[in-house]
Parts: sequence; structure tokens; C-alpha cells
Amino acid sequence: MLFKSTAINQIKSRTITLLALATAIFFTVLACGSPSQDKSQAGLPPELVVDYVHTVAEADRTAYTKHVVNRLTVLEGKKKEDGVVNAEATEAWKEANGVPLPAQMFRLGAELASESGSFTYGLISPWNINDNQAPKGEFEKVGMQKVVETGEPYKDYREIAGKKYFSAIYPDFAIAPACVSCHNTHPVHKERYPDKIFKLDDVMGGVVINLPLEGT
Ligand code: HEC
Repeated sequence: MLFKSTAINQIKSRTITLLALATAIFFTVLACGSPSQDKSQAGLPPELVVDYVHTVAEADRTAYTKHVVNRLTVLEGKKKEDGVVNAEATEAWKEANGVPLPAQMFRLGAELASESGSFTYGLISPWNINDNQAPKGEFEKVGMQKVVETGEPYKDYREIAGKKYFSAIYPDFAIAPACVSCHNTHPVHKERYPDKIFKLDDVMGGVVINLPLEGT
């Protein structure tokens, strides 16, 4: 009798353990299964990702302008006419004793980044000096126009060569007198857009970011 009840108790407790195990497995499968199912929808929204990319790209350009380009001629807040470092920021930096202009530096970085094959970015302008930096296609033409009118970023889905992208154009403002004076007096600008005289704080162009959307 004593033996019998112990055996029954053992079977009972084993059954309970097995049931508990089965329940645990069931809930584990449920818990692990649902997030992976949702993964494609649950990632960061593309609107936010383009903002992040823009913040980094723009910060690098500003840091380069402030701390490298300005550093060539400005020491402790004072401009030194014969330079602090024996080099100038010049369009012909490869041939001259110089370093790239901020826009050129931006493009050099963008070219390296696009080698990763994930996303691309670049500078465009309706008053472009560089031929490759004119707004291209419907999205860039319409978007750039809106950005010039509103001073606000323009974001939308677009297709490039049959692939789907989420793209954004951010305004590129004339934040310093040097932006305005250099562009207004550049020989290409004067020849192509003689009537376009930039003023401080004008939208001079845009930063375009193209984020490929997976599985499309
Ligand atoms: C010393 C001259 C100089 C200064 C200063 C300068 N730029 Fe430029 N910028 C250029 C040249 C030259 C290009 C074309 C270079 C290239 O990308 O090949 C250019 C390119 C650009 C472009 C891309 C469209 C195009 O014209 O090809 C934008 C937008 C732009 N600059 C905005 C700015 C802004 C905003 C500032 C100030 C923060 C600025 N630039 C300062 C000379 C200058």
C-alpha cells in the first residue's frame, strides 16, 4: 500500500513536470516566434534612418570646414593672411598645395560609403557647379524644388533602376559668408547662372540620401 501510493505520487509529479515543461516550451516558442515574424516591419522606420545618416554626414562636413579648412588660416580666432598651415582649401587640391573643399571632401566620403553597397548619399543643386550634381529624375527635380521653396526636408519612396528606395533631400543652407562669396564668384556659376546671386541663409542645394528597401 505504502509502495503503491509512492509510485502513484511519482507518476503524478512526473506528469506535472512534463506538463510544466511542455507549457514552458509552448510559451518560449510563442515568445521567440512572434518578434522574428515581425522583424521586417518592426525595424527602425526609414524616415528615422535617413535622419541619422544625414546628421553624421553633415556633422563630418561641418567639422572638416571648422577644424581643418578654417584652421589653415585662422589661429586662436584671428585670421593669418600668410596662413597657419602651408596649404589652402582649393578646388584644384590634387594639383595645388592644398586640401579639398568641403563639398569635395563630402563627395570623397560619399564615394567610399557607397562602396559598402547599402545606401548612397550626395550633394545636388539646381545651380550646380559640378555637372554630376544636377538634380536627376522626377524625385530629385520635384523634391529639390520643394526644398528650395520651403527650406524643409523632402522625403518619399522612389524607384531607381527597378529597385525600391526610401529617399530624402535635406536643405543645404548658406551658413557662412564664404559659401555665398565662393559660389557667386565661381567662373562656372557666373557663366551658367549669371542671375542667381546667393545670399546668406539661402538654400544653395540639397543633401540626397537613398536608402534601399530590402526584399523589393
Ligand atoms: C572656396 C569655394 C567654396 C566654398 C567656400 C563653398 N563651396 Fe560649395 N562648392 C564649391 C565648388 C567648386 C563645388 C563643386 C565641387 C565638386 O563637388 O566638384 C561646390 C559644390 C557645392 C554643392 C553641390 C552642387 C554643385 O555646385 O556642384 C553645394 C550644394 C554646395 N557647394 C554648397 C555649399 C555651401 C552650403 C557652402 C558653405 C557651407 C559651400 N558650398 C562652400 C565651392 C565652394
